[in-house]
Amino acid sequence: MEILCPVCGKMLQKTDRTYRCPDGHSFDIASQGYVNLYLHKSENSGDNKLMIDARKRFLEKDFYRFLLDELNRLIKPEDSLVDLACGEGYYTSKFVSGDRIGIDLSKSGLKIASKKDKDTTYILSSIFDVPLPDECTDKVTIIFAPIAGKEIARILKDNGQFILVKPNADHLYELKQAIYDEPYLNEIEDIEIEGLKLVEEIPVKQEAILNNEEMNDLFMMTPYWNTSSQKDKDKLKNIDHLKIGFSFLIDIYEKIN
Ligand SMILES: C[S@@+](CC[C@H](N)C(=O)[O-])C[C@H]1O[C@@H](n2cnc3c(N)ncnc32)[C@H](O)[C@@H]1O
Repeated sequence: MEILCPVCGKMLQKTDRTYRCPDGHSFDIASQGYVNLYLHKSENSGDNKLMIDARKRFLEKDFYRFLLDELNRLIKPEDSLVDLACGEGYYTSKFVSGDRIGIDLSKSGLKIASKKDKDTTYILSSIFDVPLPDECTDKVTIIFAPIAGKEIARILKDNGQFILVKPNADHLYELKQAIYDEPYLNEIEDIEIEGLKLVEEIPVKQEAILNNEEMNDLFMMTPYWNTSSQKDKDKLKNIDHLKIGFSFLIDIYEKIN
């Protein structure tokens, strides 16, 4: 897939360690392998190193492998694919697609992703302002991240598909039972995206027994980490093992012509 200059919108050419456009704007490739095309330095820097490292430790144990396998059933090797908010690239690097781009704002995430996976192009950029041409990809994926509807519809080819992974109502319910006085089910909403139509929703679920360290890493990956009180967080310290259900919805959207 072609990559566009974030300054002038012209096509970038890759040389050994640099991307350069015809107007002379150039962007060095970091030693790990990603390219920084984000021009608004102070606005948002994505997930921090602490969160990224916790997610890396947790995902490396393949607790979510069943989700990856289900996603790979929806992707063909000949598909081009853009993984928006790819984090440290656990899914991106293992997708069967032969032409892959991963985009995220977290330097910590992209350093890990691009160091270990040389088959994907990793770009530091906002997913709300993607430096890719219109109608350039067969698939767009977003896994547990904000939804950049306008950009998804713009970069998808005709008949392209957007695959969204979101938590199902009972995702991590046992973890919430362990730490909250009043555990609650997640609210599920069908997200409408202009130019796209939701065509299928696939629920996937698996249980696992986690030890204390794994529970902590999992907790740190979730939005609950920032919203829970210290008192609730401390309750996890006394739990040695816990059986937890991982429950997701895979929503498939198609581009409307
Ligand atoms: C919960 S993580 C999910 C990461 C990855 N998809 C996964 O499931 O392993 C959310 C990711 O969204 C990224 N993110 C949040 N807002 C973003 C934005 N506006 N542009 C690009 N990335 C963003 C964060 O840096 C983080 O890596």
